[in-house]
Amino acid sequence: MKTVHTVAELRREIAQWRKSGERLGFVPTMGNLHAGHLELVARARSETDRVVASVFVNPLQFGPTEDFDRYPRTLSDDRIKLEAAGCDLLFAPSVDEMYPHGRSGIARVSVPGISEVLEGQFRPGFFEGVATVVSILFHQVQPDVAVFGRKDYQQYLVVRRMAAELHMPITVLANPTQREPDGLAMSSRNQYLSSDERKLAPGLYRALSAVAQRLRSGERDFGVLEREASGVLDRQGFRTQYLVVRDPESLGPAKPDGTGWVVLVAAHLGRTRLIDNLEIPAD
Ligand code: PAJ
Repeated sequence: MKTVHTVAELRREIAQWRKSGERLGFVPTMGNLHAGHLELVARARSETDRVVASVFVNPLQFGPTEDFDRYPRTLSDDRIKLEAAGCDLLFAPSVDEMYPHGRSGIARVSVPGISEVLEGQFRPGFFEGVATVVSILFHQVQPDVAVFGRKDYQQYLVVRRMAAELHMPITVLANPTQREPDGLAMSSRNQYLSSDERKLAPGLYRALSAVAQRLRSGERDFGVLEREASGVLDRQGFRTQYLVVRDPESLGPAKPDGTGWVVLVAAHLGRTRLIDNLEIPAD
């Protein structure tokens, strides 16, 4: 597996594959890779002939008080893991390579509506940062298929809409959330947790599972489910920002007899902000 740091080198590598008619899969990441990321590479591998992964901690999607500076950067470990997972090319650009015109006042991509709720409310500008960098990466790599994780469910919907509405000829796929044995969704941010917080953290998945169970057994008072589950989390030591049952396509209000639901949660445990979700298909 080759590693390149510039767009020029990236284009040179990819041009050879394109010339021989190979299909290209792409997995964008911010690095510090775990099994959840590597499953995306395996999925891309199974769908296409060549797989490109990117590692770029994107400053545009971090708020001023967020963890951009302390976000874990582990490129040499990431490289070993990507190679073992069957990645063909790693693109690891610098901030200057990605934003040669600076970061303020440049063209940006926004996906209205879906970007303004939930994560968008608590992290203003986050989805504009994500949509902009993913759009830039899509233009640089020009993949046939791009693979995202359902762990970041709203992000997947934003990227899928962006690609569709801007007529990008890219199939956006979503892969299931990979979890630790105790249910905690894998995340680079889990390592911020103290050992006591780590013991509490699976409570998030348990709360989602409890809501799912009650939906399956016929409960349709979404407000009651939401209030009870966030109360349970807060009593365990979380500071819940939202725990909601929503329509899985629009993230608008859940429908009692709809096409299923998604339960989404964001909560702080100490200084660490965790998100998770669970999809409940209609029978
Ligand atoms: P990052 O958090 O590194 O995640 C990269 C990809 O891995 C995303 O599609 C994310 O949903 C997926 N992922 C993370 N944890 C996962 C898990 N436990 N199971 C399955 N998939 C998981 O998301 C980003 O980076 C950035 O916003 C990015 C899209 C790269 C744009 O900067």
